[in-house]
Amino acid sequence: MSALLAVEGLCVRFAAREGRMVHAVEGVSFSIPSGGALGLVGESGSGKSTTARAIAGLQAPSEGRVLLDGEPFGRQSARSARARVQLVFQDAQGSLDPRRPVGWSVEEPLALQGSGTAKTRRARAFAALDACGLDPKLSLRYPHELSGGQRQRVAIARALVCEPQLVILDEPTSALDVSVRAQIVNLLCDLRQRFGLAYLFVSHDLAVVRRVCEEVAVMYLGRIVERAPRSELFASPRHPYTQALLAAVPEIGRDLALAPLALDPASPLAPPSGCAFHPRCPRRSEVPAQRCSLELPILQTHGDAALSCHLAAGAVPRAHPAAPGSGASRG
Ligand SMILES: Nc1ncnc2c1ncn2[C@@H]1O[C@H](COP(=O)(O)OP(=O)(O)OP(=O)(O)O)[C@@H](O)[C@H]1O
Ligand SMILES: [Mg+2]
Repeated sequence: MSALLAVEGLCVRFAAREGRMVHAVEGVSFSIPSGGALGLVGESGSGKSTTARAIAGLQAPSEGRVLLDGEPFGRQSARSARARVQLVFQDAQGSLDPRRPVGWSVEEPLALQGSGTAKTRRARAFAALDACGLDPKLSLRYPHELSGGQRQRVAIARALVCEPQLVILDEPTSALDVSVRAQIVNLLCDLRQRFGLAYLFVSHDLAVVRRVCEEVAVMYLGRIVERAPRSELFASPRHPYTQALLAAVPEIGRDLALAPLALDPASPLAPPSGCAFHPRCPRRSEVPAQRCSLELPILQTHGDAALSCHLAAGAVPRAHPAAPGSGASRG
């Protein structure tokens, strides 16, 4: 399958106080095939939303590029091209105008594109609402008159009405009650199948990612540390950080007998030397010569999966361990 979305060496850095830089995203590369779904997971501040925003063209990358069907994609792309990638956020209320009936918000992207007539736009908005399990009569209501689940359905309809190829979902279920969450997850799975959509699915919720996505990428302090097909990642996570994330999910972690994480995450303002995870890594003592604290591991591909960990190299000591900062290939 050829890639619908290809992200190549994406870096996003923000200027911070005292001339320092926040390395929010560093050298992130992955691809999503047409109709595929990739889950992007990791702790708060690992750079998931910044990656999502950069792909959607809402944030200019500092380095790297985003290709959609092989063509550069970003802020500079024509509006009609940008419609092919839609974003759904955690907080549907934020993407719906509180002063307008929700039907207006669903039609708005089509109006901005100058697509069709008022009549055809309305018909498409009704069809999108219907596909999202909402009675089109609700289109006359205001966002505050709907439940959280209904608002999220409207936000999904607003994305769907553009007939996108890729939908980027940033924590689409995090603000919802557990029962509503399951309904929205089911809806997202149905819509994907029905319309052949590809998803980039950003979430803290590994159980939801396992349900929705065939592939998962794990981010730590701006870098992808592991990427693998769902079955592989959940059955035999290889990176110690992935193992710790899974350990924190009772229904996933209990069978794998994994230890939860110690220490707070480091700051992207001052990422640790070498492997950024090393101060928290329960397995760094298995790698000799302090390699984990000295040398940035490279994300290496193994078949369908990729891993950035010195343990994977068999923990063989190198003749000349690299100095800090050298060999800083992007993961
Ligand atoms: N506009 C900005 N200016 C400065 N720093 C930013 C900006 N946006 C994000 N950051 C920083 O970049 C890092 C990554 O943030 P991001 O929101 O991408 O993380 P995240 O993985 O989505 O976290 P969460 O799970 O909490 O949503 C954080 O340290 C954040 O403070
Ligand atoms: Mg986020």
